Amino acid sequence: MAPMMDWTDRHCRYFHRLLAPDARLYTEMVVVDAVLRGDRQRLLAYDPAEHPVALQLGGADPARLATAARIAADEGYDEINLNVGCPSDRVQSGRFGACLMAEPALVADCVAAMRAAAVHVPVTVKTRLGIDDQDNYEVLAGLVGQVRDAGCQIFVVHARKAWLSGLSPKQNREVPPLDYPRVHRLKRDFPELTVILNGGIRDIETAQAELAHVDGVMLGRQAYEAPYSLIDFQHALIGGDCRHPPTRDDIVLAMADYAERVCSEPAGPRLWAIARHMLGLYAGQPGARQWRRYLSEACRDRDAGPEVLRRSIALVARAA
Ligand SMILES: Cc1cc2nc3c(=O)[nH]c(=O)nc-3n(C[C@H](O)[C@H](O)[C@H](O)COP(=O)(O)O)c2cc1C
Repeated sequence: MAPMMDWTDRHCRYFHRLLAPDARLYTEMVVVDAVLRGDRQRLLAYDPAEHPVALQLGGADPARLATAARIAADEGYDEINLNVGCPSDRVQSGRFGACLMAEPALVADCVAAMRAAAVHVPVTVKTRLGIDDQDNYEVLAGLVGQVRDAGCQIFVVHARKAWLSGLSPKQNREVPPLDYPRVHRLKRDFPELTVILNGGIRDIETAQAELAHVDGVMLGRQAYEAPYSLIDFQHALIGGDCRHPPTRDDIVLAMADYAERVCSEPAGPRLWAIARHMLGLYAGQPGARQWRRYLSEACRDRDAGPEVLRRSIALVARAA
């Protein structure tokens, strides 16, 4: 599951874990200075059920990234991923994210420093096909080669280039077009590396077709917008015991139990911080609209507790 700012926080990841027991979950990007100077406990906390879980870091300073990587390893993260793909202005002003694609030697230094600091945890890179006009295959292969030499074995490639000016990050997730064959070529040229393809995967057929060319696929918006489809992705791509998949209602009840637990912790979240990730649970089902409306209204209430979630089940059943 892809790292997504404002979306894949710990509550979202717990929810996704219920739906896809074996998928690898990524945090939102956490800027390195926030790890070093911010409220570390709040930023890095996660539930043990989230394993395997990867922390994505944003930064470009090898020493600071190394310190943050050591902290993440001590916190028990299963992977530390460096963001070399985010095109936002805020990220560019910090000279990290996608603009790092133009500085492969610096990315290699960052990865080497992170690996030295967090020796038992894989350090991976998520990147794009290129940036702006530097989008020929050689730029990508050059970056991957240098970063591999620094010890990175796993590359996630969002299969479109980043456009650093003139497009918002949101637009830059739709244009320019995806180019899967370029990611296939990368895997052919670096067969020893684990190459994960990301971008535009909406259905199992596409995912399965891509797995003939690459080692894995990463889902972003599909997972968030239609989370129940994760059950089918888990079944088709990973397997496991799928004889009795949880129903949507089972998931709601499990999330109500989760909310009961975490909302009552000191400085625990409000129900809405959890429920907002569940809006798509009934996508495509009868009652989906009523569910969204109910959730948006009832769970936003300051005093809403887990029983509000439990009550939603009867409401969807009536609407269906
Ligand atoms: C709301 C949102 C936030 C995102 N935040 C991040 C991020 O923090 N780090 C990152 O590497 N990519 C981020 N992305 C990009 C996704 O990880 C992914 O590469 C992109 O959405 C393409 O995959 P998809 O077509 O399956 O959604 C974000 C995407 C979305 C929709």
